[in-house]
Amino acid sequence: MRPVNNAAPIGIFDSGLGGLTVAAALARALPHESLIYVGDTARCPYGPREGRQVRGFVAQIGTFLARRGVKLIVIACNTAAAAGLSYAQTHGEVPVIGVIEPGARAAVRATRRRRVGVIGTEGTIASGAYGDAIAALDAGVAVSAVATPAFVDLVEEGLSHSYDGDADKVWLPDELYSLAGQYLAPLRQADIDVLVLGCTHYPVIARPIADIMGGGVRIISSAEETAREVAGTLARRGQLAPADNEVRYEFLTTGDPTKFAHLGERIFGAPLKTIEHIDFTE
Ligand code: DGL
Repeated sequence: MRPVNNAAPIGIFDSGLGGLTVAAALARALPHESLIYVGDTARCPYGPREGRQVRGFVAQIGTFLARRGVKLIVIACNTAAAAGLSYAQTHGEVPVIGVIEPGARAAVRATRRRRVGVIGTEGTIASGAYGDAIAALDAGVAVSAVATPAFVDLVEEGLSHSYDGDADKVWLPDELYSLAGQYLAPLRQADIDVLVLGCTHYPVIARPIADIMGGGVRIISSAEETAREVAGTLARRGQLAPADNEVRYEFLTTGDPTKFAHLGERIFGAPLKTIEHIDFTE
């Protein structure tokens, strides 16, 4: 094992913009840490792809980040974590943290009636990863899981519209409300009291989802809990960055960097100053 430089960045990746919800939580929880974020926009969405192919992407991006000298990797994409977390943990040299276990933990802690709903991409829901992670914590929790694949495209589309010039807000097409009503109907019937946003794109549309589910349902995103897990892991390993660390945030995308920076700023909550294009197909 090579020695770890505590000032080394944390690597984080997603199929596109969604993982920036997790990057933002990391930046808030660990303000002395540098971050390198990879958004694989050119191959987004991962959701409808075969697990084996997504695992290949995880291996590729993980290797890339390891070469950039990161001290820990966060798979900030539920689909990629469901397909490739175990692979990355067993084949890489640095610790790898996904978003599914942290989300499951937050849900089990929050549910009172022990009835939890999960929404995510086809890949995440078909993997059964949330059911397994929740059962490992409390096998008595009933889990209702529903794939809501069109939400990813709607989020990406919503982000590309300007909304009254307010960069924090996202334009939501009317279609979103009717679609969300249909998707969420079985979960309303399942009498859940907690709903996990099992896709890192979904916090962007948390408000309409909460409106449709009603006040009795708590909405959980794994971003904060994942940031806590990263903080705990680095602290245990004695690898937290020093308080005088020169913090750098670097962003890489397989898509168009200008567009990524423009849209990503709305999720990250600050300008994406250092942005680069990267190509994994060469
Ligand atoms: N952000 C990804 C996730 O958390 C979903 C987007 C995609 O389908 O690529 O699952």
